[in-house]
Amino acid sequence: MSHALIAYAPEDLDHLLRIHEALRLVGVPDHYEKAGLVDGGGSAVEDAAIDGAFCLIVPVTAAAQRSERVRDLIERAVNKGLVVFPVRMDKSRLLGFFRKEIGPKLVHDGIEEAGLSTFVAAVQARYRRRCPVVAVMNLKGGVGKTTVSAQVFGTLQAETGGRVLLIDFDPQYNLTQHFYNMTDADRLAAADRSVISLFERSRLHYADAVSPAEGWSEINEAPFDPAPRRLISNALLPPDKPGWLDLVAGQFEISKYAFAPRPEALVSIARNFRRAIDQFRSAYDLIVFDTNPNATFLTTCALRAADRVLAPMHADEFSLRGVKLLNSLIQSQMGGEQPPEISVLFNAVARNEQSDFEADARNGVFDQRVGFALSKALMQAAIPRSNFMRVQETPDGESEPHKRLLIHNGRGGGLKSMRERLRAVVFELQKKLDMEETESRIAA
Ligand SMILES: Nc1ncnc2c1ncn2[C@@H]1O[C@H](COP(=O)(O)OP(=O)(O)OP(=O)(O)O)[C@@H](O)[C@H]1O
Ligand SMILES: [Mg+2]
Repeated sequence: MSHALIAYAPEDLDHLLRIHEALRLVGVPDHYEKAGLVDGGGSAVEDAAIDGAFCLIVPVTAAAQRSERVRDLIERAVNKGLVVFPVRMDKSRLLGFFRKEIGPKLVHDGIEEAGLSTFVAAVQARYRRRCPVVAVMNLKGGVGKTTVSAQVFGTLQAETGGRVLLIDFDPQYNLTQHFYNMTDADRLAAADRSVISLFERSRLHYADAVSPAEGWSEINEAPFDPAPRRLISNALLPPDKPGWLDLVAGQFEISKYAFAPRPEALVSIARNFRRAIDQFRSAYDLIVFDTNPNATFLTTCALRAADRVLAPMHADEFSLRGVKLLNSLIQSQMGGEQPPEISVLFNAVARNEQSDFEADARNGVFDQRVGFALSKALMQAAIPRSNFMRVQETPDGESEPHKRLLIHNGRGGGLKSMRERLRAVVFELQKKLDMEETESRIAA
C-alpha cells in the first residue's frame, strides 16, 4: 500500500484533520501517528511507514518548528529520497532548520480553503503519477486492443517485476477469455468477482447483497467500500514470479448501463468506480483498462480515470477514422477534467518494411484529417503481424494463465524476435509513463 505520510506536532490536530479530510475526498490514502509526534516519547514512526509512503506532508506551524520529532521524521524521509510537501498552516516565521530545509519547498498556503485545495491537488497529482492508469482504446474494433492489453502489459510486468492490474472493461470480455476458458470466466462473473463490483454494491461487499448482474433495469447507487484487492482480482502469475499481474474479470452484464433508466444513477456509480480505481492506485504500479470499441458510459468512465490512452491502430483508413473519433470523444467527454494524453501504436504491421501508409502517418500527412498531431502521438516502436500474437481459445483444463503470454511461454527464433519487439514497445511506454520510480524501486 502507498500513502501520504503526515509529520505533525500534537498541538496541530485540527490542521491534521483538515488535511486528512481533504485527502480523503480526493481518494488519496494517508498515514499519521495517532498521537502526533510527541518529543521524547511515543513510538517512532516506523521505517515501514516511510518506505510505504509516496510523499511526506508537513503542516508548517510554530508547534511543528519546535518539535524535534517532526524534524527527525523530515530528515529520515529526505534521506530516503521521499518527496516533501510542506503546507503553511499558520503565520509563524520560518526559523533555523525549517527555513533552510522547508523554506525553499514551501509554495502552498493552506490557511485559506482555496490554498488547501491547490495543495491537495498537487499531492493527488503526485499520487497518480506513481501509479498511472492507461486506457487501451480505439473506436475501431479488431485493431488489437485486447492483444496489446495482455501482451504489451504482460511484458512490461515481466520486465519490471512490478505490480500491474488489468481490468476488462469490454462487455465481450475477450481479455478475460485470453487468460481463462469460458467456464472459468463465467464462474468469476457469476460470483460478482468481476468488473461490475467496481460500479455497484455486490456480494463481494456484502454477503446478503443482491447481485447487480441480476436486474437489467436496476442500478444500485448506494456507495460501498471498494473490495480488497484479493477478493476482486485474480492473480495471473504463479507465486514464484516476481511482482503481480492481476486481472479484474469482465462480464456481459455491464452492458446494462447503456439502458440505464435514470441518468443520475450513472453519475453515482461512476463515482463509485472512480473511488475504487483511486484506491487501487495505492496497491499497484500501473492499472490498464481494455475497452470496448464503441463510445458508451463505460468509455467515458475509462477516459476520466485514465492518465493516458494507448490506441492501437492498423495501418489503414478504417483505423485512422477510429483514432479521429477517439480524439474527438476525448475532447468532448472529460467534463472539465484534464484529458488523458494519447499515444498511438501501430499493430499488425508488415514485419520487414514500412508501408506507405505508416510512413505518411509518421510524416504528418494525416494530422489535419484526424484533427490532432497524430505524427507526434505515434510511438516509434510498432508490433508486427505475427501468428504468435494471434489468440487461440484457452482450452478447458488449462490452469496457468500466465503461459498465455509470449514473454512467459515458448521457445524458438520467431518468438525471440517478437519478444524483442514487445520489449521495445514497453521501453518506450515506460518513458512516456514516467515509470522510472518503478524501475529504480525494483533495481533496489
Ligand atoms: N500483431 C498481430 N498479429 C497477428 N494477429 C493479431 C495481432 N494483433 C491482434 N491480432 C489478432 O487480431 C484479432 C483482433 O485482435 P484483438 O481482439 O486484440 O482486437 P480488439 O481491438 O481488442 O478487438 P475488439 O474491438 O473486438 O475488442 C485477434 O484474433 C488477434 O489474435
Ligand atoms: Mg478487444
